[in-house]
Amino acid sequence: MKVLCISASNIIHKAFDDSTSFKLCKLILECLPKENYIGEIVDLRTYKLQPCIGCGQCFETHRCVHDKEFNCIYENIISSNIIFIVSPHYAPIPAKLCMLLEKMEQITFLHWAKDTNYKSEVYGISTGIISHGGGSDWALPSYKAMVNDTIANALDTIQLKLIPYSQEWNTGISIPVASVVNSNNDIFPQQEYDWSKIKDIIHKYISKVIQS
Ligand SMILES: Cc1cc2nc3c(=O)[nH]c(=O)nc-3n(C[C@H](O)[C@H](O)[C@H](O)COP(=O)(O)O)c2cc1C
Repeated sequence: MKVLCISASNIIHKAFDDSTSFKLCKLILECLPKENYIGEIVDLRTYKLQPCIGCGQCFETHRCVHDKEFNCIYENIISSNIIFIVSPHYAPIPAKLCMLLEKMEQITFLHWAKDTNYKSEVYGISTGIISHGGGSDWALPSYKAMVNDTIANALDTIQLKLIPYSQEWNTGISIPVASVVNSNNDIFPQQEYDWSKIKDIIHKYISKVIQS
């Protein structure tokens, strides 16, 4: 079983590993059962994606004729059994994730509009959504509304199978910061996390996604 984790942050941190999205992806791979699962991370910082211009040529090609980097990620998604999308809250979602979702949407939608029985190449692939941002527990309902629900809406058109966490968290999970430290030496506040608590919730969500 191939598990693909998409790290949606665009931020070039001082150290590559400083991205919380990237760390969460690494944690997902660590938490996978040791046997029968191969994990891979797609870090969107390393891709130069272009927005969809609505040229309609993907109706014939099923790929984007303008964007080889998108096609590379799309092939990777098609060949996966399970996807995790890990996204920070931006405004509301990072631009490259938006470009990825809008192209997958367009490829599927153009065919579905002509034939509502159309099944996309990614039809039914189990997908988990994990959001986070610069806020603690109080911020999680707004991350759900702006990040998880936005991505979930796109997955519906693309025909990826969203796996809920619970009745309340029906579009995936959201991860809080434990504390935020402001220092005069850095423009950005330092976000600190309770990684053992996060590992527990990630474990539970992975089990639900795998069982699906
Ligand atoms: C353009 C931009 C907009 C952001 N907007 C918000 C926001 O509205 N609310 C919030 O809690 N965090 C916001 N953040 C902070 C990020 O969500 C947070 O720092 C996150 O940990 C970044 O993910 P990364 O560590 O994987 O790069 C924003 C960050 C950027 C770059």
